[in-house]
Amino acid sequence: MDKITIKKDEYTRQEIVSLLKTRDKDTINELFEYADKVKQSYMGNILHVRAILEFSNYCVQNCLYCGIRHANTKIKRYRIEPAEIIDYALKAESMGFKTLILQSGEDPYYTAEKIEDIVRVIKNNTKLKLTLSIGERPEEEYRKFKEVGADRFLLKHETSDPILYKTLHPGMKYSNRIKCLRELKSLGFDTGSGIMVGLPGQTFESIANDILFFKMLDIDMIGIGPYIPHPQTPLEKRFEEAGGYFAPAVGSYDVEDLIYKIIAITRIITKRTHIPATTGFNVLNDNNVRGKALKRGANVIMLNITENALREHYEIYPAKKKLAAQNAETFEDLRKRFPEYQTI
Ligand code: 5AD
Repeated sequence: MDKITIKKDEYTRQEIVSLLKTRDKDTINELFEYADKVKQSYMGNILHVRAILEFSNYCVQNCLYCGIRHANTKIKRYRIEPAEIIDYALKAESMGFKTLILQSGEDPYYTAEKIEDIVRVIKNNTKLKLTLSIGERPEEEYRKFKEVGADRFLLKHETSDPILYKTLHPGMKYSNRIKCLRELKSLGFDTGSGIMVGLPGQTFESIANDILFFKMLDIDMIGIGPYIPHPQTPLEKRFEEAGGYFAPAVGSYDVEDLIYKIIAITRIITKRTHIPATTGFNVLNDNNVRGKALKRGANVIMLNITENALREHYEIYPAKKKLAAQNAETFEDLRKRFPEYQTI
């Protein structure tokens, strides 16, 4: 492989693929250092903390990887009522959070009217920035959510490989996902997308496309996390059969190292974006993965504020129960743990 120049504004698809594949320590270190520099100069030395409330784990979809898929009858389903969601928001603000993410499965119980009421009341009674992460909805509903004051919307595209997307999402359309993202952008939402890394059948070429896609759609927030096999889902079996992460493609490849690279390349190319050190990442290995991600381009950490008794049921991937301790972290804990950043 020819030596790739790291310190530049853009990479070609082929350069991204080479960077993802390289095992050359010097190249990797240079990439990480440059990503940190780009982050510092565009985003400052700031760690943004977000509160996240998982308000319903009901979902009409059947994504093959996801533990809260409709067909999973083994989990206990719960919903938090609108009035209680509002209480959570007031509490989040009093705890010092500036942003609240309201996340759920695709749950029609929360009609457009219900969501609008929740958003309106929270925006009228707090200074919180409000992020919705509730899946695909008609453009008209997105418009109403914006009108009543929602600031941001998260909708991961999961993979930009249309064939893989179709396999993983029965009854859903890649084209509709992209349509939703474009609508959200043009309605003026700060728009988030993201991918899972290590899906069976995913290639390095498709990950390079994902990174270029973030740039092309001018995505504002980018979540990059590992695929974590969930035993109550059909994809786990395929993952086992395929021999684990990326085995057929390139020989076993450490998914943690790969995610750092994807974060770093994404930072260098997209520059002024918010990139979380995702929680899923901690499942793989809790040895300061977030700290490393923050040194390699990430600038956001999300703290789960859902009450403990419900949290374990929002099991999109299996190890979430084990995350209880970490999830109980407070704002202050983060300040102490990452004193090198200005935490807001
Ligand atoms: N591993 C990792 N992330 C997952 N998600 C769902 N299931 C899994 C899994 N098994 C993430 C997806 C989705 C969100 C609801 O949770 O990125 O967007």
